Amino acid sequence: MPDKTSAHAGGIAAPGIWLPCPKGENMVFRTPKAEDGPTIARLIASCPPLDCNSIYCNLLQCTHFAGTCILAEHTNGIVGWISGYRPPQEPDSMFVWQVAVHESARGQSLGQRLLNELFQLPGVRDAQRLITTVTPSNIASRKMFEGFANDHGATLQARPHFNSDVHFGGAHESEELISIEPLGASGMPLDVKK
Ligand SMILES: CC(C)(COP(=O)(O)OP(=O)(O)OC[C@H]1O[C@@H](n2cnc3c(N)ncnc32)[C@H](O)[C@@H]1OP(=O)(O)O)[C@@H](O)C(=O)NCCC(=O)NCCS
Repeated sequence: MPDKTSAHAGGIAAPGIWLPCPKGENMVFRTPKAEDGPTIARLIASCPPLDCNSIYCNLLQCTHFAGTCILAEHTNGIVGWISGYRPPQEPDSMFVWQVAVHESARGQSLGQRLLNELFQLPGVRDAQRLITTVTPSNIASRKMFEGFANDHGATLQARPHFNSDVHFGGAHESEELISIEPLGASGMPLDVKK
């Protein structure tokens, strides 16, 4: 059971320890650096049903793909994370790989704020569509993407993509491909809700 009450100096919680994230607390959004890799791996591990990746995978995201990933940090540490990249075969799209918001920071629209901040990054803001995959049972994730689509006046479409039996050998729920467009060649509208 994570200890959510222990104080911890240095800004990053120790393994297994996450501190409360008070509503309204100033949140800093920034692209990741290699040193964030282990904390991001622990955040993902604390956010089922996300698949855990190797730390090496997270390190590649924090280095080669840092320009298309974003994290949310407050005084007690990193509580939000989005990984993604621009698919080489579909460079006008932004693929959102994983979104993780620690349970101590949920209920504050942090997932949607992370998406909005992501789409302001220089390496992302010209994307014309967001693409991602979501399991049909993940209601919170779907609502978060619906909220992002609504904020941008864009249309969300979902269709079957990775099949449980065909692509996951039955070991994982099927994933639908979600696309949200148009986001506009010049990035997000200025009047988007934050
Ligand atoms: C999905 C996740 C990132 C959302 O983070 P968040 O900061 O709570 O997201 P937001 O507050 O921006 O939006 C979530 C929406 O889902 C709703 N919601 C949250 N939990 C819910 C639940 N269990 N059932 C139904 N709706 C839920 C919220 O009310 C909100 O809807 P609203 O905008 O209409 O109010 C977070 O729950 C998480 O990390 N989950 C585990 C990992 C995961 O599933 N990631 C997504 C797959 S890539």
